[in-house]
Amino acid sequence: MSQELRAVQWTGGELALIDQTVLPHRTEILRVENVDGLVDAIQRLVVRGAPAIGAAGAYGVALALLQGEREGWSAERLDAEIARIRAARPTAVNLMVGVDRVAARLAEGLDTVLAEAAAVQREDVEANRAMGVHGADWLLKRVSADRPLRLLTHCNTGALATAGWGTALGVIRELHARGLVEVVYADETRPLLQGSRLTAWELVQEGIPHYVQADGAAAGTILRGEVDAAIVGADRIAANGDTANKVGTVGVALACADAGIPFLVAAPTTTVDVGTPDGSAIRIELRGEDEVLEWGGIRTAPTGSRGHNPAFDVTPGRLVTGLVTERGVLEVAAGELPGDRPA
Ligand code: MRU
Repeated sequence: MSQELRAVQWTGGELALIDQTVLPHRTEILRVENVDGLVDAIQRLVVRGAPAIGAAGAYGVALALLQGEREGWSAERLDAEIARIRAARPTAVNLMVGVDRVAARLAEGLDTVLAEAAAVQREDVEANRAMGVHGADWLLKRVSADRPLRLLTHCNTGALATAGWGTALGVIRELHARGLVEVVYADETRPLLQGSRLTAWELVQEGIPHYVQADGAAAGTILRGEVDAAIVGADRIAANGDTANKVGTVGVALACADAGIPFLVAAPTTTVDVGTPDGSAIRIELRGEDEVLEWGGIRTAPTGSRGHNPAFDVTPGRLVTGLVTERGVLEVAAGELPGDRPA
């Protein structure tokens, strides 16, 4: 995959989104030209990953402005439609940050709104590249191995999940560029398979050696000593370092703590929400029961079973060895908290 892969692209009047629901078997672009279409795309995970929905939300303000001009909306209606985009998913703070940053420029007109949205996108790519270097340098200092590293990751944090390059996967790409990745264990990431469908697809494009494993295999792989470090992304990081990320992440962190290996979170500072004191204040998205009761549209659980489908979990900050941001690495478990010194 080239660095140019863009999950979210403004094409002048509309947004072109890589449809992540049909990857890896089909590469399709979904064109979105109104607020309903964007809210639906975010909720169905056509576009997903905290920084990518932040960029989509940022351009969503421009979409709303254009739709409002076409349909003669009042200022109140425009605000309400922008609020709908902002609330399309509740956990990733990047969506709110992206929408609010661009909405603050509305009075200055479409050109300014579009320039601000483009800045959100550009700055995310720059942050990802910086995170890649900081995370790779930190790992090479902290993991004593006289061979390339064996890394584990959960969900998808690559170019598809961001404005470009990737967060946790960006660190892995940086290490791979230095010839220092032996293998990546990519958790499949039930129930929507962001790991086996999307991370594995990106790893194949990059020529990075990897295994896809069931989420339930992760702890055993770590405790058997087959992993040097785990690195994941985040949807919202509280002031005390508690980190919301894709469901299944906290089990990886617990296994890393038991095995005594680093558990790293890589996320831009736009994912750090110092207004949220700790993980208990993070709203966790509960998704539809069918996602866990069915597979490929076919019911797998017996009639009468209920489904419990939290999309994210919260890893306590005490389990986060390092938080990699574009500004460097905070050693959260050792007491360096994002709320004390903005990451
Ligand atoms: O439900 P998703 O696929 O949007 O969840 C994505 C994750 O949990 C990612 O790990 C997180 O957003 C970071 S993406 C760089």
